Amino acid sequence: MNAAQLTNLLSSMNTEEKLAQLTQLNPVCFGFPCFTPLTGPDSGLRIPEKYNASIGSVLNCDNAKDMLYIQKEHLKQDPHKIPLLFMADIIHGFKTIFPIPLALGCSFSPEHVEETCRIAALESAASGIHVTFSPMADLVRDPRWGRVMESFGEDPHLNASLCASSVRGYQGDDISMPDRIAACVKHFAAYGAPEGGREYNTVDLSYGILQDTYLPAYRAAIDAGAKLVMSSFNIVDRVPATGNKHLLQNILRMNWQFKGPVISDFNSVGELINHGVARDEKEAAALSFAAGVDIEMMSPHYCNHLAKLLETDSGLTEDMLDTAVMRILELKNELGLFEHPCKDADCTREAQVHLSAGNRSIARHIAADCAVLLKNENVLPLPNPTQYCPGTAKPIGLTGPFAASPYVLGGWSAGSTEGISLYEGLCNQYPASGICYKDCGALGSWLEGTPDIPLPTQDFIDAFNDCDTVIVAAGENQNDTGEGGSKAFLRLSPHQESLIQQLKANKKQVVVILFSARPLEIAPILSDCDALLQAWFLGTESGNALTDLLIGAVNPSGRLSMSFPYTVGQIPVYYNHFQTGRPCTQQGGSNRYLSRYLDCPVQPLFCFGYGLSYSEFSYTDFYIRREDSLSASVTVTNCSHSAGTETVQLYIQDIHAPIVRPVKELKGFQRIFLEAGASQTVSFPITRELLSYHRTDTLLFEPGAFNIQIGKNSEETLSETIMIDESTFAKEQL
Ligand code: BGC
Repeated sequence: MNAAQLTNLLSSMNTEEKLAQLTQLNPVCFGFPCFTPLTGPDSGLRIPEKYNASIGSVLNCDNAKDMLYIQKEHLKQDPHKIPLLFMADIIHGFKTIFPIPLALGCSFSPEHVEETCRIAALESAASGIHVTFSPMADLVRDPRWGRVMESFGEDPHLNASLCASSVRGYQGDDISMPDRIAACVKHFAAYGAPEGGREYNTVDLSYGILQDTYLPAYRAAIDAGAKLVMSSFNIVDRVPATGNKHLLQNILRMNWQFKGPVISDFNSVGELINHGVARDEKEAAALSFAAGVDIEMMSPHYCNHLAKLLETDSGLTEDMLDTAVMRILELKNELGLFEHPCKDADCTREAQVHLSAGNRSIARHIAADCAVLLKNENVLPLPNPTQYCPGTAKPIGLTGPFAASPYVLGGWSAGSTEGISLYEGLCNQYPASGICYKDCGALGSWLEGTPDIPLPTQDFIDAFNDCDTVIVAAGENQNDTGEGGSKAFLRLSPHQESLIQQLKANKKQVVVILFSARPLEIAPILSDCDALLQAWFLGTESGNALTDLLIGAVNPSGRLSMSFPYTVGQIPVYYNHFQTGRPCTQQGGSNRYLSRYLDCPVQPLFCFGYGLSYSEFSYTDFYIRREDSLSASVTVTNCSHSAGTETVQLYIQDIHAPIVRPVKELKGFQRIFLEAGASQTVSFPITRELLSYHRTDTLLFEPGAFNIQIGKNSEETLSETIMIDESTFAKEQL
């Protein structure tokens, strides 16, 4: 349709038909079957029947057969033949599941992220999905919050870069093209900062931190072309985001020039009443609509109240309604739905693309780049399976609740339930006699009330007497992660800790593979681990990817996207914190009047950017160049006998400024592959924008001293302090 046709269509619609466009419901709510689980209330959720025929969009229909039926039936009823938009949570893959986003963050690879989203789009488009509620751009600093798994981590620069890649991966250049879907960036804004890590809790941030730390990733996704924005559940400066005019009008529409529809989160319009900013449903509808929420998800308040509000002096106008509806019609048009209402939905195509061999092979390769090797005392890689001689070599022990478990996909993988277990992966490489697997019992979840495995007996431990090395696949139940998965304790369950301790006490080399959707408190087990591999939840190909790493077919290259605390009491602990008036640079000592803990280091156990490899990389020749432009470089050498991938990281500290600035901030990263013995010089441009920060809504560069650092993680860097002023960038601007 062209613009004039869209305008004609809009003007032919009555108010009820327009309001129905602003409503998103689960198919059940308007008379169709649907089998996907919901994350919020739907009890008795019904809209007056007159709206059913014109409803605008559908939540969570996940297969072509249902979608084709619902769309065709809908088009028979809708007086204007306006197709439904089908939206769903495609978070880290649809049928082929990729690592959870927090793990994808550890790849430090925009290319990997883009590829996972391209495949997710391809697979979900075949099932009739038009819009994914992804990327989740919420920056996270508190691993108690269950949804850290959906984030790319604690760093604004990495988060922004990977959110932009996600959008490119889903959308390509043109969302009307086959295999493309539209991206809805969420949850706007700052949902990732709930106090105490407790789900749906208060968010309280200074405006500067909101601007410099939390907003950049949403902005990057929008600049990359994201077609929709979802407002969040939380408050921002004491006003719920879903009724927050400053956020949705001034920042999103005025400053960022966002043109697409804004959708509420699941019943977040209705929750304005619980927040106490709306007296009733009518006021909730008025507040969120006036703030700029175009579509309400899973609540009927627009349909039930906006028509009356438009007739009174509520300040809401027919023009506002038309603007909101037009945004939705334009999106449907951009997707090509008026011409092809079912777009790519096709049962035959589903069978061809879902979990295809090609998609799985990419998933395996990417998953291996997301696991992070945190400790290795000469245990890994394990003996090569091709050289394993049954009868002479000792078998490798394998136990732990995740050893043979297929539940390794991680939350938000509704399209699939099972992946390759570690045992399966190992058996794909080793002869059966090479692996001595013992079932330690299943790990329950907190919601089931049995969040542990049975206590291992001495007989169980003795069952590994023939092994020198035992792999323990430990972690947290994936049902205790994700939305509604906040936890106050982050240690492994007591019996899992005991399993690791007892095996070590029995003189085994213990290799712990940790399955978790957040940084756990692993200090208590660290000394009992000879090697520790943070596996996260790696998706469909988990077991094969982990085996590739364990046997050295792939050299570990993941780097932490989120700091690991020593203990919950340190949280939030993140690398880019502010300096205090009494900084503490060393652990211990007798000076108590420093910003420190008496009983714990200030630094995390494992810092942002940390990760080991089977190679060793050295950093030399750090150099700052001021020629046509400003840049910093370093020479990285692989001084080991194994080829490997290193992630070279640029950090900058703005040493003096009128406001306090972080001790350092990531401003660039590059993954480089180096053959054994090879060197490469890696350069990073340093632009004015990289050195700027927000004062109110303005991005400012202030001349002065900057400390430039390049290194292998946020703590181990080479650095130099230089003066930078406007003249440094004069040539850049020419
Ligand atoms: C979540 C969103 C999700 C929506 C739809 C909500 O509970 O917060 O992230 O997109 O449900 O499933």
